[in-house]
Amino acid sequence: MIDSTPESVRALFDRIAPIYDPLNNWLSLGQHRIWKQMAVKWSGAKSGDTCIDVCCGSGDLAQMLAERVGNGQVVGVDFATEQLAIARQRVQNRHLTLPITWIEGDALNLPLPDNHFDAATMGYGLRNVGDIPRALRELQRVLKPGATAAILDLHRPTNPLVRNFQQWYLNTIVVPLASHYGYSNEYAYLAPSLDRFPTGQEQRNLALEVGFSTVTHYPIAGGTMGVLVITK
Ligand SMILES: C[S@@+](CC[C@H](N)C(=O)[O-])C[C@H]1O[C@@H](n2cnc3c(N)ncnc32)[C@H](O)[C@@H]1O
Repeated sequence: MIDSTPESVRALFDRIAPIYDPLNNWLSLGQHRIWKQMAVKWSGAKSGDTCIDVCCGSGDLAQMLAERVGNGQVVGVDFATEQLAIARQRVQNRHLTLPITWIEGDALNLPLPDNHFDAATMGYGLRNVGDIPRALRELQRVLKPGATAAILDLHRPTNPLVRNFQQWYLNTIVVPLASHYGYSNEYAYLAPSLDRFPTGQEQRNLALEVGFSTVTHYPIAGGTMGVLVITK
């Protein structure tokens, strides 16, 4: 049984680090890269910008941001040591010279200054942070006035047929595939974490409450995913 304390969440992501990327590729048929590129685009990041990817995990989104900002700077933050090790290794393996600094840190207490970043992304992190308003407040704090964050995550579709399909997929495809690698318990957390996750409308309200001035939520992939786009 996985509980949702920060220690358990961190331990869970450390444990699944070796299979996280291959499983993501299989389960989304590679689509997660397209959704992540959408988040990068909607963050408004541009050449020369200083950006942050919060809950960067093994570093996909941070790499995409770094490719976009060119001679700018990207900071990838995550609290799971093993995920960050893979993020570093992937950049090295590809012999890439990307302007990324990896920081082991907490999304609820970012070790970074106020009003510092031109854009931010977060992929599949908000559902896991433990305190969503606090994570949004931290993002708001580190962004410059007028800067945007694009937050990609799972989403509960409003169409009941699509929602049924999503639940079937999580329980019948994802968990058995993960159990093939010996990680069924670890992936069983996905469906309940989505059940608890605020809807797009609720996410927008939370972002307004912490002080973002413009908030939009885009359902994508038939509503099974969503991108919350919020501007300070
Ligand atoms: C599902 S993974 C997503 C990784 C990556 N962004 C991606 O899209 O593939 C969620 C990540 O959030 C991180 N995480 C969860 N809560 C966190 C917190 N409070 N502070 C920092 N990282 C956190 C986990 O360690 C994990 O790497």
